[in-house]
Amino acid sequence: MKKITTLIVAFAASAIVSSSTFAAGGSDVALDKVYMNMSDKASLQNGAKLFVNYCLSCHSAEYARYNRVAEDLEIPLHRLKENLMFTTEKEGDLMKTTMPAEDAKEWFGVTPPDLTLVARVRKPDWIYTYLRAFYRDDSSPSGWNNSLFENVAMPHAMYELQGVQKLMGKVDKSEQGALDAHAAQGSDDYTIVGDAKFELVHPGKMTPAEFDTAMADLTSFLTYLGEPAQLKRKTIGVYSIAFVILLMMLCYLLKKEYWRDVH
Ligand code: HEC
Repeated sequence: MKKITTLIVAFAASAIVSSSTFAAGGSDVALDKVYMNMSDKASLQNGAKLFVNYCLSCHSAEYARYNRVAEDLEIPLHRLKENLMFTTEKEGDLMKTTMPAEDAKEWFGVTPPDLTLVARVRKPDWIYTYLRAFYRDDSSPSGWNNSLFENVAMPHAMYELQGVQKLMGKVDKSEQGALDAHAAQGSDDYTIVGDAKFELVHPGKMTPAEFDTAMADLTSFLTYLGEPAQLKRKTIGVYSIAFVILLMMLCYLLKKEYWRDVH
């Protein structure tokens, strides 16, 4: 018995220690909170469209199939073929990139990682901040840098949409309140992403607000890719709870029926 108690205490202690190290690791990076609504099919569809148009040329999502995505996101098959399937002919194919891994390694120095599970590893707020934090940097080999991922090998894939940002500097956390108030007034002389302050030197096809929404859609899509079952999980949850309530009611009625003669 004593051994078991020691074991339980040790286990609990290690769980507390590991969770607090995780928290400590995450708290020193400033991330923007992403707003996602996983039941918003239009948002997920837009995310899927951005993904195949701007990411699939370098990254794969090798654990996802086109037809499963179409089914989950309620995309009709003809639209899937016209708008999403550029790398293959067959609907049941995996979402693979056409770029050979060796070429990618030679061009970027690293192979672009598979993105199926990236939202689970990095977390949605990280992805959302990362995708908006690219800026022009002539000293980097690709001409781009990222304030969240210093010296990243990935070029800014969506500069046409966002435009070109210039880094003005890092923001102190103590300044944050004043900066939020500045942003709330709709001022557009600079934007803040994570802990970095940017000036938009060339506007893109989208306004900063439109680009933020598009990146929230893309982040939602990547979050869905990491766990496709989550779209159905909530519905199943509601059914299960309804079933339990019904069962409780039946049990109660049954109990009343049995005890009627006793009382
Ligand atoms: C031109 C090729 C290219 C395109 C297009 C591209 N990426 Fe990348 N991406 C890379 C490379 C290379 C890396 C590895 C960066 C490194 O490790 O320095 C990377 C890294 C990433 C990472 C970080 C992964 C990690 O956990 O370290 C994410 C997230 C990501 N890309 C998302 C995207 C998304 C979303 C798109 C589409 C909008 C996209 N990428 C388009 C080349 C590309």
